[in-house]
Amino acid sequence: MSKTPSTPADVIQPPGDSAILIILRLLETDTSVDQVKDVCGSLAAFVRSLKKREPDGHISALMGFGAHAWGKLFPEQPYPKELKPFEEIKGDKHTAPSTPGDLYFHIRARRMDLCVELASEISTLLEGAVESIDETHCFRYFDGRTIIGFVDGTENPENEDANYFSMIGDEDETFKGGSYAFIQKYLHNMKGWNNISTEEQEKVIGRKKFSDIELSDEEKPANAHNAVTNISDENGEELKIMRANMPFANASKGEYGTYFIGYASTFTTTERMLRNMFIGEPVGNYDRLLDFSKAVTGTLFFIPSPELLSELGG
Ligand code: HEM
Repeated sequence: MSKTPSTPADVIQPPGDSAILIILRLLETDTSVDQVKDVCGSLAAFVRSLKKREPDGHISALMGFGAHAWGKLFPEQPYPKELKPFEEIKGDKHTAPSTPGDLYFHIRARRMDLCVELASEISTLLEGAVESIDETHCFRYFDGRTIIGFVDGTENPENEDANYFSMIGDEDETFKGGSYAFIQKYLHNMKGWNNISTEEQEKVIGRKKFSDIELSDEEKPANAHNAVTNISDENGEELKIMRANMPFANASKGEYGTYFIGYASTFTTTERMLRNMFIGEPVGNYDRLLDFSKAVTGTLFFIPSPELLSELGG
């Protein structure tokens, strides 16, 4: 089952204690393409320097490209097989919108100051070449819980399954070791959520809140979040993705959210989970979590392996 490339994209590590997610629009200036390529070539060195300064900082950075930007920046390159603009998924009650994004940065570290340092180094190189679409600062909430109180990431693939499900393999040789990042910002209706009992919340997620133990088949409703996102291939083998979700908040505005970050070897898997959540399988069995969580963004990016990223830097 192994398809580990020599240096895979660093997508399988834990979400971290702090993270910054940056989505940028590429501007058409005389220098913008060169400036972006400069970042492709410099990112690994920026991370290395920061790691020297803060050896226990757990610093990492991923850079991704949206479908339109890929063609503009690297016209000489083929397209990663599954890189395309994300198409909105509309269910009867809830919609997964498609929102723009040319460049993506996922910066993780033990402390927010380290994330900010790296974000500012990247931003200096990109000055005048890009416009910010969104920057979200995320934090670890207690023992790795979502802001709605449940432990997140428990059923992520582990060991060699982690590489297998999160990184492109031999099926797309040129882009081996890369990954497809799908991101979605969700805002939660905290009042509505807190108005239902813990037992009902557990039926929404499909796990016990305090202990994080999965509900039994008898206890778990068909529209529980972990029922609709648990999918298999035609041979009954489970299909997984690597999730690195993080909470974010703006308490004085009453804004509490989950930044969904899913890395996958194939976007088809993530897309099937999304269709199950928003449309339902069978149709109408949509994810009950969506009655308390509204998706406000949705963008697909390709993350090159570190080797390819530095090659793209020229
Ligand atoms: C499981 C939270 C969105 C895919 C879980 C769990 C929680 C959770 C608490 C149970 C623990 C675990 O196994 O990690 C959330 C929240 C979301 C969200 C708060 C946004 C509001 C999504 C989306 C996808 C997804 C958009 C896929 C596109 C999964 C998968 C599992 C899972 C695959 C594991 C299912 C299994 O048990 O096999 N999520 N999630 N989640 N989630 Fe989500």
